[in-house]
Amino acid sequence: MADGGAPAARGSSRGVLIRDDWPGFPLHLFSFPKHYAEDLECVLIPHGIIMDRTERLARDIMSDLGDHDIVVLCVLKGGYQFCSDLVEVIKALSRTSERSLLMRVDFIRLHSYLNDQSTEDLHIVGPEDLSILSGKNVLIVEGIVDTGKTMKALLKHVVTFQPKMVKVAGLLVKRVASGVGSLPDYVGFEIPNRFVVGYALDYNEYFRDLSHICVISDDGKRKYKV
Ligand code: HPA
Ligand code: MG
Repeated sequence: MADGGAPAARGSSRGVLIRDDWPGFPLHLFSFPKHYAEDLECVLIPHGIIMDRTERLARDIMSDLGDHDIVVLCVLKGGYQFCSDLVEVIKALSRTSERSLLMRVDFIRLHSYLNDQSTEDLHIVGPEDLSILSGKNVLIVEGIVDTGKTMKALLKHVVTFQPKMVKVAGLLVKRVASGVGSLPDYVGFEIPNRFVVGYALDYNEYFRDLSHICVISDDGKRKYKV
C-alpha cells in the first residue's frame, strides 16, 4: 500500500488500492477523444475496470440494503456517470435476484473546485431543501472524495432533514495528507493524490466526455485554466 494520510473509511473497505508508484496505462493503447491527445498523462483506470468495480459495489449495496426502500442522492455533476451506472446495475440485480431494492433517485449540485484547487467551502447550488429525505434510507453517490471535508459538510446538511439512515458510495477516494473529513461506506478505488479527469470528473467543466479516468497533464491544466 502506498503511504498517505487517508483516514479509515466509514465502512470496512478502502476500495481497490492504486499505489503512488502506479504509472497508469499509456494513452496510445486506448481509444479516447482526439481533442484531448495533448491534455492527458495516462489512463489511471480504464472504463471497463470502473464498470466491473461498480458491479461489485452494487452487489455489496444490495446485500446490505436489499429489501429496503432507498433514496439515491446523486451528487452533481461529478457523480452522475457513476450514479447512473451504479443504479443500472442495482436495477439489473433487482430484476434477477430474490432481493430487490426500491429506489428513488434525486440530485444535489455542489460546487467546490476551481482549476485543480478546492475552494474549501461547501457550496450547494441546489436544491437546498432536502425534506424529501425525511425518514428515508439515503444513499449518497459521489464521484470523488479527497479531503472528505465536502462530504462531511454534506452529511451534516443531509442529517438535518432527519433521514432514517445515510450511507455514502464514492467511486474514488484520493489519498491526501489533509484527509480529516468523512469517507464513503462504499469505495471504488483509493487513488494517489493527482488530479484526475474523465467518467464525469472535470477540470473546469472539460473532460466529462472521456470514458476512462485519466491523469490530466500540465499542458491540459494550462489549456483549460480559467
Ligand atoms: N478531479 C476532478 N474533480 C475533483 C478532483 C479530481 O482529482 N478532486 C476533487 N474534485
Ligand atoms: Mg468538478
